[in-house]
Amino acid sequence: VLNIVLYQPEIPQNTGAIARTCAMLTARLHLIRPFGFQIGDKRVRRASMDYLEDAELIEHASFEAFEASLSGESRVWTLSDKGSQNYTQVEYSKDDYLVFGRESDGMPDEILFKYPCVHIPMPGTEKGPRDDHRFHSLNLSVCVGIVGFEAARQVTKNWSGNLE
Ligand SMILES: C[S@@+](CC[C@H](N)C(=O)[O-])C[C@H]1O[C@@H](n2cnc3c(N)ncnc32)[C@H](O)[C@@H]1O
Repeated sequence: VLNIVLYQPEIPQNTGAIARTCAMLTARLHLIRPFGFQIGDKRVRRASMDYLEDAELIEHASFEAFEASLSGESRVWTLSDKGSQNYTQVEYSKDDYLVFGRESDGMPDEILFKYPCVHIPMPGTEKGPRDDHRFHSLNLSVCVGIVGFEAARQVTKNWSGNLE
């Protein structure tokens, strides 16, 4: 199955929405501590629309603990607007791990560039610099939707059917 990994997520509603997306993709959701909320938080529950029970959720104490859980064959991709590869140009495999950063500041460069780093193009930023820093990236749960569905589309034999 595909693996969606959230590095230190801060906003409960994003994690809830992502849990719902993962349930629909039959993707595993990995959460790397610390988080900015409790898993049982009602904002997580509300945004997940109770799909949280259907999502396969794995918590890791740290990024090192997450890495220690990987098998030698696991392929990891990191997601950032600093990534050199366009997300549509990547050939995903069904057991890949897609790692997304936290809402305020992504993830440290040591993690980001340890693995191949992938970006989603943002044509709006080409209009020129904006003072508002929030305009420089997409919402975390939107990114998981975009890349998660592209990866799922590629690895699913019958896209209208189930993931393997
Ligand atoms: C709100 S963004 C974090 C923004 C933060 N300013 C940064 O420097 O990374 C949260 C996460 O969404 C993902 N993300 C946002 N925009 C992206 C893009 N254009 N391409 C790939 N991932 C993106 C990344 O995983 C990022 O760590």
